[in-house]
Amino acid sequence: MKVTREIENKYNITRQTLHNWIAEELITPPQKDWRGWFKWDIHNEQEIKKVLKEKCESNNKESVDSPIESLKIYNRRYLGSKLKMLDFIEKVVEENTSGIKVVADIFGGTGSVADLFRQKGKSIIINDILFSNYISFLTWFGNEDVDYVKIKSKIEELNQLDANEDNYVSDNFGNLYFSMGNARKIGAIRKKIESYNDLGNREKSFLLTSLMYAMDRVANTVGHYDAYRRKMDSLKPIYLKVPELNRNRKNLIYQMDANKLVHDIKADLVYIDTPYNSRQYGDAYHLLENIMNWKKPQVTGVAKKFKNRQHIKSDYSTNRAPKAFYELISNINSKYILVSYNNMAQKGNGRSNAKISNEEIISILEGRGKVTVFSTDYNVFTTGKTKINGHKEFLYLCEVERN
Ligand SMILES: C[S@@+](CC[C@H](N)C(=O)[O-])C[C@H]1O[C@@H](n2cnc3c(N)ncnc32)[C@H](O)[C@@H]1O
Repeated sequence: MKVTREIENKYNITRQTLHNWIAEELITPPQKDWRGWFKWDIHNEQEIKKVLKEKCESNNKESVDSPIESLKIYNRRYLGSKLKMLDFIEKVVEENTSGIKVVADIFGGTGSVADLFRQKGKSIIINDILFSNYISFLTWFGNEDVDYVKIKSKIEELNQLDANEDNYVSDNFGNLYFSMGNARKIGAIRKKIESYNDLGNREKSFLLTSLMYAMDRVANTVGHYDAYRRKMDSLKPIYLKVPELNRNRKNLIYQMDANKLVHDIKADLVYIDTPYNSRQYGDAYHLLENIMNWKKPQVTGVAKKFKNRQHIKSDYSTNRAPKAFYELISNINSKYILVSYNNMAQKGNGRSNAKISNEEIISILEGRGKVTVFSTDYNVFTTGKTKINGHKEFLYLCEVERN
C-alpha cells in the first residue's frame, strides 16, 4: 500500500491529476485509512499504469513537441529526505497552526518540504549549508524570470555533446563513481555550461540542477558519495532533463549556517530538519559540491574527496549538536517552530547514534513556548509523558510564546 505522495513520486504525476482521473472515472478511487488518507494498492497502481500508457501513446501520435522529459524537485535520492513525510507534515501544520504566510526551511536539503508550502502559495525562505543544494534552490524557488525556450535548447545541446576526451571528471571519477563514458560526458557538459555567456544566474542553475540530478541517476553508488560500488554496473548513458519551471515572486534563498541565518530572518513557521547523526552531508555529497563549484580541486583517498571541507562541516553531526540546537531555537523569530527528528537511534557516540535526545529537544523547545509532539501514526503525546520507543519519525511543534 502506498500513500498519495509515493504515487506522485513513483509515476511523476501530481495529486491533482490523480483527482482528475478519479473524477473522470479513468481510475477507481482507492480505499481510505482511518485518517481519511488514500491508500493505493496494486490494483490502483495497475490502473494508473494503464492510463499513463494510453496517454503516452496518444501524445506520441499527436506531437513530439517537447522531446525532453521534465524534471521535478523530488526526482532525487537524498539522505534524510522528507518526501515520504509530506502528507504528515501538511496535516500537522494545517490542523494545528493559523495565519501562516512565510515558511522558512533552514536545513532545506532537496527543498521538498519548502516546496509543499510553496505550492500552497506561501512565501518561502530556504537555506542549506551545501552549495549544490543552493544551486537547486535557485532553480525551484528563484524569483528571476528565465527564458525557458533557451534553457530547453541548451539542455538539448548538452545532451548531444560528443565526449571522447578525458577531463577532470573522467580522470578522477571515471570507472569509480561513473562509467568512463558518463564521466567524460559529465566533464564535457560541466565545461560547456561554464562557457555559456548568455545565461542569467537562475538560467545557469537550471542547467546545473539538470546535470546534478542526471549524475545522481547514473552514479555507481547507493545514493550518496561516501563510497562507490566495487562492480561498475551503472552503464546507462547520462541524460539531462529540463527542470520544471516554477514562477515565483517572493522567496528568499540562502547558503549559510542556519544558526547564523536565524538572526536575520523572520517567518511565521520555521521548519527544522537537522542531520541526526555523525554522518556529515558535506562528505556524503562531496562529489556534487565539487562538480557544482567547478574549481577542480585535487581529490584524495579511496572516496576521492576534496580536502578542504571545513566550511561545510555541521555542528549537528558532532557532540556540539545539543548546544547548537539550543542556540538555534533561542534566536528564532517566528510564531511556530516545527522540528523533525529521527529518534530511532539512541543518543550516543556511534556513527549512527542520534546526537540530540528526545528529552533535549522537548526541553529546549519548551524554553520558547507550548510544545506538542506528533508521531507518524498521528498520535499526539503530552510532553510530560512522552514515550517514543518503537516509533520512527516525529514532529515537535512549538507555539512560540517567549522571546
Ligand atoms: C536531514 S537533511 C534535510 C532534508 C530535507 N528536509 C529534505 O526533505 O530533503 C539536513 C540538511 O541540513 C544541511 N545542514 C547541515 N548542517 C547545517 C547547518 N548548520 N546550516 C544549514 N544547513 C545545514 C545538510 O546539508 C542537509 O542538507
